Amino acid sequence: MTNNGSRRILVTSALPYINGVKHLGNLAGSMLPADIYARFQRLRGHDVLYICATDEHGTPAELAAQAAGIDVRAYCDEQHEIQKKAGDDFLLSYDHFGRSSGEENARLTQHFANVLEANDLIEERVMEQVYSVDDGRFLPDRYVEGTCPHCAFEKARGDQCDNCGRLLDPVDLINPYSAVSGSKNVEIRETRHLFLQQSKMQDTIREWIEAATDWPPLARSIALKWLDEGLRDRAITRDLSWGVPVLNPDGSVREGFENKVFYVWFDAPIEYIGATEEWAKINGEPDAWRRWWRTDEGADDVEYVQFMGKDNVAFHTVGFPVTILGSKEPWKLVDSLKAFNWVTWYGGKFSTSNKRGVFMDQALDLLPADYWRWYLTSNAPEGSDAAFTWEGFQSAINSDLANVLGNFVNRITKYCASKFDGKVPDAGEPGDAEAWIAAELETRLPQLVQHYENMEFRKAAAETRAIWAAGNEYLTKAEPWVKYKTDVDAAAIGVRTGLNLAALFGIIAQPIIPEAAAMILDALGVPNDRRTMTPEALSDVSALLDALPRGHEITPPDVLFRKIEDEQVAEWTERFGGEPA
Ligand code: 2FM
Ligand code: ZN
Repeated sequence: MTNNGSRRILVTSALPYINGVKHLGNLAGSMLPADIYARFQRLRGHDVLYICATDEHGTPAELAAQAAGIDVRAYCDEQHEIQKKAGDDFLLSYDHFGRSSGEENARLTQHFANVLEANDLIEERVMEQVYSVDDGRFLPDRYVEGTCPHCAFEKARGDQCDNCGRLLDPVDLINPYSAVSGSKNVEIRETRHLFLQQSKMQDTIREWIEAATDWPPLARSIALKWLDEGLRDRAITRDLSWGVPVLNPDGSVREGFENKVFYVWFDAPIEYIGATEEWAKINGEPDAWRRWWRTDEGADDVEYVQFMGKDNVAFHTVGFPVTILGSKEPWKLVDSLKAFNWVTWYGGKFSTSNKRGVFMDQALDLLPADYWRWYLTSNAPEGSDAAFTWEGFQSAINSDLANVLGNFVNRITKYCASKFDGKVPDAGEPGDAEAWIAAELETRLPQLVQHYENMEFRKAAAETRAIWAAGNEYLTKAEPWVKYKTDVDAAAIGVRTGLNLAALFGIIAQPIIPEAAAMILDALGVPNDRRTMTPEALSDVSALLDALPRGHEITPPDVLFRKIEDEQVAEWTERFGGEPA
C-alpha cells in the first residue's frame, strides 16, 4: 500500500508459446482474465503493472521454425510481432509484452542457476535420453513422439500426452520415433544434465502453499496434489542449441554443456522478471523493475497475482517458487494464483496443433474484440471446463450486449435527442422508481467489486449484466415516454436518471468490453477522470444518478452491437467447425 492508500499490483499471465497465434481457449484462460483484472484494478485507482511475453525457447519454437523452413531466431522475431499485434487488437492492456529470448532473461536465468547451485540445490547427473541415430542428435521433449504408456494414444509427445494430459518422460514412450525425420532408428543414450533438487524443498513449498488459504481453490488444490505425490528432482537443461546457454559465474561456458541450454520451463517464468526489466529500460528508468521484484528494494508492498491455465499450475506453484525460494535472495514471490479450466470446442479439444477452433486473429476478422471478450468472460472456465459453441456465442451477444446493454443506451440517448434537445434534462424530482434503482445499485455495485476482487470473472460478468438489466427494469417502471404526454417534468427525471445509468453502465463495462464502454462514455461526454471505479466514485449512488451536468449535451452513439444472424452462425460453423465428428 502506498501513502495515498492505493495498492501496487503486479499482474502476469502465462507466457504464450511462440509457435503461432493462440486460440480463444488460451486467451480465455490466461491473458484475457489477467487483462480484465489489470483494467479493473487500474480503474480502482491502483498502481498496476501487467506483464506478459512470448515464450520463445524449447522444442515448440525449434520445431515450428523447422516446419516453416526458417532460422529459429528469424521465426521468433516474426511470430513475436504477430502475437503482439493479436494482443493489441484484442485490447490486452499489457504494460509490456516482452520476449523470453532477450538478454535480460538469459542473464537472470544464469544468475538463478548459479545461486541455486551455490545453495546446494543443483547437481550434475547422468541420465538417459532418446537419441536418433539417423538425425545424429538427442531428441528431448517434443522432438520425440510415440505411444503413450498410460492411454496408448499413438501420437503422444515426449513431454506430454495430448490425449490423457499426463506429463511424460520421453524414454517411457512406446515405439518412439523422431518428430524431425520420422526415423524409428532411435536408442537410449546417456547424457549429463543439471538437476534441480526440488525434493529438498518439499517442506518449504508445502508450508507456503498450506498457508495460502486465500488463493482461488483450483490452483491450490492442484498444487497440493503435486505435493502429495512428492516433489521430484528434475533436469533443467537439455541437449539443444536454441535457448539460454549454461554459463559459469565468470561468464565462461560450463564444461560439458557446450551443446546444451536451459530447459524452457526453467527460464520461462524467470522472464516475468526479465520482461519487467525490459519494460523499465524502455521507459528510461532501468532500475524501476527492482521495486516490483526485489523485496529489499520496495517490492515488499507489491501484491503479485498470476493467471494461467490449469496445466501450468505445477510449474508456478512448485518449479518457479523453488527457484525463487531456493535462491535465498529477496525476490518477490507470487501472492495469489488464479487458474482456469479449459474452454472446449463443443466439449472436444480446442487445439493449436490440430487447428481446431477459432484463433485470435481469425476471430477479429469476424467481429470486434468486445464480442469475444464478453462471451469468453461470461462463459469463463472457472468452476469447470466451459464449451465454446456458436449458438452460445450468438445468444450471449444478442441477448446481453445487443438487447440488454445496446438497446438501453440507444433508446435513452435517442429519446433525449428527440424530446430534450440532446441535453441532460434539469427538471423533475426523484420518486419511487428512482428509489428502486438506487436500492438495486446499493446492493449490486459492492457485489460487483467483490467478484472482481475475488477474481471470479464469470460472476463479475453476470453481475454487470444484472445491473444493465436493472436499468431496463427501471425504464419500464419510470416510463418517461408515457409520462411525457402528460407531465414533461416527470419524464425529465426518467431521462436524466436513464442517461446517468447509461454512463454508469459504460463505466462498469470497461474492464470487459473497453471499446464499447469508451463509445458509450464518449457519446455521453463523460470526462476521463469521471470514468473510474474507485471506492469514492462508486459509494454515493445518488451522486452517480445525477453525475452528468444538467444541460450538458450528449450525442447518441452509433450502433454499439450488431446482432449475430443465424446465417452467420451457419457460415462460421461450416468454416471453423461445430460439433466434433
Ligand atoms: O503452457 C504454455 O503455454 C507455456 N508457454 C506457459 C509458460 S508460463 C511461464 F512460466 F512463462
Ligand atoms: Zn496418454
